[in-house]
Amino acid sequence: MINGFSKLTKKQKRQWIYQNYLFQYFPEEVFSIYDLSDDKLQKLHDDFIENTIGNYVLPLAVAPNFFIDDHCYTVPMVLEESSVVAAVSKAAKFWSQHGGFHCRVRSMEKVGHIHLFFDGNKQELFQFFSQIEPLLYKETQPLTENMRRRGGGISSIMLKDMTDSLEHYYQVFVTFLTGDAMGANFINSCLEQMTKTIERESIARLTKGSLEVLMSILSNYTPQCLVKAEVSTPVSQMSFEDIEGVTFATDFVRAIAIANADVYRAVTHNKGVMNGIDAVVIATGNDFRAVEAAAHAYATKDGRYKSLTQACIKDDIFHFSIEIPLAIGTVGGLTKLHPMVRTAMKILENPSAETLMKIIACVGLAQNFAAVSSLITHGIQKGHMKMHLANILNQLGATSEEKQQIITYFKNKTVSYSEVVQLFNQIKGRE
Ligand code: MEV
Repeated sequence: MINGFSKLTKKQKRQWIYQNYLFQYFPEEVFSIYDLSDDKLQKLHDDFIENTIGNYVLPLAVAPNFFIDDHCYTVPMVLEESSVVAAVSKAAKFWSQHGGFHCRVRSMEKVGHIHLFFDGNKQELFQFFSQIEPLLYKETQPLTENMRRRGGGISSIMLKDMTDSLEHYYQVFVTFLTGDAMGANFINSCLEQMTKTIERESIARLTKGSLEVLMSILSNYTPQCLVKAEVSTPVSQMSFEDIEGVTFATDFVRAIAIANADVYRAVTHNKGVMNGIDAVVIATGNDFRAVEAAAHAYATKDGRYKSLTQACIKDDIFHFSIEIPLAIGTVGGLTKLHPMVRTAMKILENPSAETLMKIIACVGLAQNFAAVSSLITHGIQKGHMKMHLANILNQLGATSEEKQQIITYFKNKTVSYSEVVQLFNQIKGRE
């Protein structure tokens, strides 16, 4: 137990961590290899969160050749899993030669709630609410002014009776348009201001029954902030390696049907979709936890957890699409602060939030196309283990020459960890 850890300087925090957990592994100075060379940048980084002791670095890669609504994008991706970028790039190239991706953002509305309890007369509460509704707009005006100038703001405020689900429970259900911002701070500030208005006015106007606001917070479920991306091509064009188009397309559609029929497969299938999506969400400084939570909730919208992607063959045309809520932003938050995020945004040609939603959805679709294509043909381990070989060799501490020798050996063979270790030991003369 330690008190006042947050009050220590960064140096003191490192010392404490070192003395308690790390002294037996490496010298204390090793910590400094985690520092950025630019002090100003390091300070900026340290200010993102509390109790920082170092930096955690992940690779930034790009997937080129994304033709989205006739514009070609190179997409930055941040992740640690091998094969994902290669797979996404391969799928993007395939679809760039088969008509490209087409997208539609259905709406960009976000939601926030004031959760309250009222034990009095329902009608009286609804009456009270319609009386104060103009005040809710008026008293949030100083907060919404900038957003309104950018075409956003509060789009609706509604009182919902939730007493069928929970005794005395009502919701003030507020919808927002937040322009190019993700808008979490904006939404929460508006909700907290509205809460003050409700509490003050309820004391003055509600004579019977007690009203208690329990909490006010945005919802990360954003089914009204929805994007659809699709690709299509004649099945005759779908041949994969030596498999003919009709067979490949038919098997592909069956694989998607399995993800719609079985939750175990659906979760893995959607995990693959999110391999692509999260990587771009992180590269662009967006909140991947929010995107993940919304995506998986949306996958249950029909009452059962299903695939986020859909495929069918109609009139000999193969159609493949994704529909997914993506509450992301291209202004505010980390977008202007984090140097790698700024770089990623530049690579994407500084997109609007709407354009970024489309790009992210296409990457999810491409990733799923690549994963399912591998699964229904040669399996995923072939490509995966080839990439993983580099990780194994680094883990073993192989030299460049040893790496080259081992990579050449496995060129036309399936990679297995034990075989790599065995060969490495042989080369080292250990067996
Ligand atoms: C691995 O990270 C993702 C896959 O399992 C996705 C899938 O099975 O569709 C390959």
